[in-house]
Amino acid sequence: MDRCPAPIGVFDSGVGGLSVLRAIRQRLPQESLLYLADSAHVPYGEKSPEYIRERCRAIAAFLLEQGAKALVLACNTATAAGINELRELYPQLPIIGMEPAVKPAALATRSGVVGVLATTGTLKSARFAALLDRFATDIRVITQPCPGLVERIEAGDLCSAQTRAMLAGWVEPLLAQGCDTLILGCTHYPFIRPLLTELLPVDVRLIDTGAAVARHLHEVMAERHLLVAAEARQRFYCSSDPQRMARVLPILWGENAAVEFFAG
Ligand code: DGL
Repeated sequence: MDRCPAPIGVFDSGVGGLSVLRAIRQRLPQESLLYLADSAHVPYGEKSPEYIRERCRAIAAFLLEQGAKALVLACNTATAAGINELRELYPQLPIIGMEPAVKPAALATRSGVVGVLATTGTLKSARFAALLDRFATDIRVITQPCPGLVERIEAGDLCSAQTRAMLAGWVEPLLAQGCDTLILGCTHYPFIRPLLTELLPVDVRLIDTGAAVARHLHEVMAERHLLVAAEARQRFYCSSDPQRMARVLPILWGENAAVEFFAG
């Protein structure tokens, strides 16, 4: 019988959440992890909140069936649309979400102009509006949706001429308006950090939230006495072709791994 300790369940619309999973593995190397990429439904960024909430319910139910002791929504868009409902459905379960790092960016900017790269869904959400009301009172925030970028990252295209041209088209107007701090408000985007770094002047800061989310997860699990000291293992699920995800895992996760099909 499988005596593996209960895993932490982590999900995203696709492989973007692996950027968060990496931070969780670094912070909590003894914890087993269960990652689900909902690639049959990617991108979430252009879907309705109702559609995303339905996906969140189906995925959360599956991860809990697999014994998950905590859930991480490694997706800004899913957090914006679905985390409140999941917390109502599972009030006892630790559920950690992500949001664009407006507060740290407001503290970091010197020019007072901050750019946010995120999905249309995140930028249009009430949760993001509330975040701006709370933390962006003394700064100018310029939002930039990036349609099509998630699909490129899903395909493992992190540095082609087309991806570079797309990014340059979004970033150059932000720089022209004095932006000195850029928030990566989608968990896919840390994978194109090297390309962005090439496109940006050296004094522009890039801020993402993977490490902060891992730290918060650690604190919440410690408070609830859910941490273990065990041999960790990782399992990967995907709702489209598992072989396709298996092919990009070495690039985005740094290792080969088996990927199982999730039919939900
Ligand atoms: N990685 C996700 C996020 O953080 C979703 C991207 C998408 O599927 O559009 O928002």
